[in-house]
Amino acid sequence: MRKVAIIGIGMTCFGNLWEKDMVDLAVEAGIKACKDAGITNRDVQAIYGGSMSGGLFINQEHVGALIGDFAGFKNIPCTRVEAACASGGLALRQAYFDIASGMHDIVVAGGFEKMTDIGGGQAAKTLATASSQEWEAVQGATFPGLYAMIARLHMHKYGTTAEHMALCAVKNHKNAVHNKYAHFRKEISLADVMNSQLVSDPLKLLDCSPISDGAATIVLAFEEKAKELCKNPIWILGSGHAQDTLSLHDRSDITVLKATVEAARQAYSQAGVGPHDIDVAEVHDCFTIAEICAIEDLGFCKKGEGGRFTETGATAIGGKIPINTSGGLKAKGHPIGASGIAQAIEIVHQLRGTAEKRQVNADIGMTHNVGGTGATAIVHIFGK
Ligand code: COA
Repeated sequence: MRKVAIIGIGMTCFGNLWEKDMVDLAVEAGIKACKDAGITNRDVQAIYGGSMSGGLFINQEHVGALIGDFAGFKNIPCTRVEAACASGGLALRQAYFDIASGMHDIVVAGGFEKMTDIGGGQAAKTLATASSQEWEAVQGATFPGLYAMIARLHMHKYGTTAEHMALCAVKNHKNAVHNKYAHFRKEISLADVMNSQLVSDPLKLLDCSPISDGAATIVLAFEEKAKELCKNPIWILGSGHAQDTLSLHDRSDITVLKATVEAARQAYSQAGVGPHDIDVAEVHDCFTIAEICAIEDLGFCKKGEGGRFTETGATAIGGKIPINTSGGLKAKGHPIGASGIAQAIEIVHQLRGTAEKRQVNADIGMTHNVGGTGATAIVHIFGK
């Protein structure tokens, strides 16, 4: 396999972007990424775009070709990639394989979602199509409800508290203050989270990621091209992808996301590193309990200790392993298809040294992107 590097990044702001449609967002992020890479759209040989549900959010399918059309590409392969909330991470992995295999030399991996054109209830219903229709959605389960079950069992088994979970939200909102692209750029206190509206017991409003619009793009190139075009390429050292049951009830222990454990094993093994070598990570915090499970399943702390680990400040900027310096899905926002790509953009900033007030000292970074309640997990490891 050939070595692959990220040579360009670009994203839109995340949030309620009423004045822009999905194509505007995807093209804006793409133009920024090409500019950052010092290339034009004529240099791009293929695109992979992560998008969960153009059909249900904006009544538009066939979005791979649509974005290719409006981005001005001429007859190149434009592929839409779908793996629910892990669509962006999977688009990155497909682009990585495309270049690593020798098929193409310069490839774009993007992600986009326009979620706010429909109401909140309809958005929750659309998101729930990524759970099992037969066993979960038909009973009225939504993602807040499914993650609430994970939270309840985690609390019961390990003594994790609502405050432990809330501290993830407090930290991620604090980090997002310094991210000009974030949906929410305001600090919140522990009391704010604890007193916020109950959504699905024990998860409250401020334990949840929001419904956001946004797009993110990265440009990838093979080794020689990357060195020719870019002063500071960021290398993909490892890539892992694993699957688990779609329904929670089919799992022996819903506090462990086995797909995360396996995807991380693959990525660590390929990169030749372990959890202690990771300096910074963007993990899939669609709900605060998801961040706690992720830091355990990725090996940053022992199973069951994620809440107490967070309480010590270990996951804050300046801590042992800074997690979600961008603000995470919780505060940066979670436009489904874009999230996995935006995670990689934050790690590129951290490794390039361009993360400004969010900057940590990092040589190796990780992204962790989950689909549904963990039926898909994608893990990437990056180095300077
Ligand atoms: N975090 C912080 N603030 C939030 C928020 C969130 N997740 N969601 C909404 N808000 C704020 C809004 O900005 C708004 O503030 P304002 O009154 O100052 O303008 C207020 O809360 C009400 O917003 P609204 O859009 O009416 O909230 P809602 O009750 O319709 O939706 C949730 C709130 C939590 C139900 C919704 O954000 C949600 O479903 N999140 C989960 C998304 C999800 O499942 N993603 C997939 C994960 S697998």
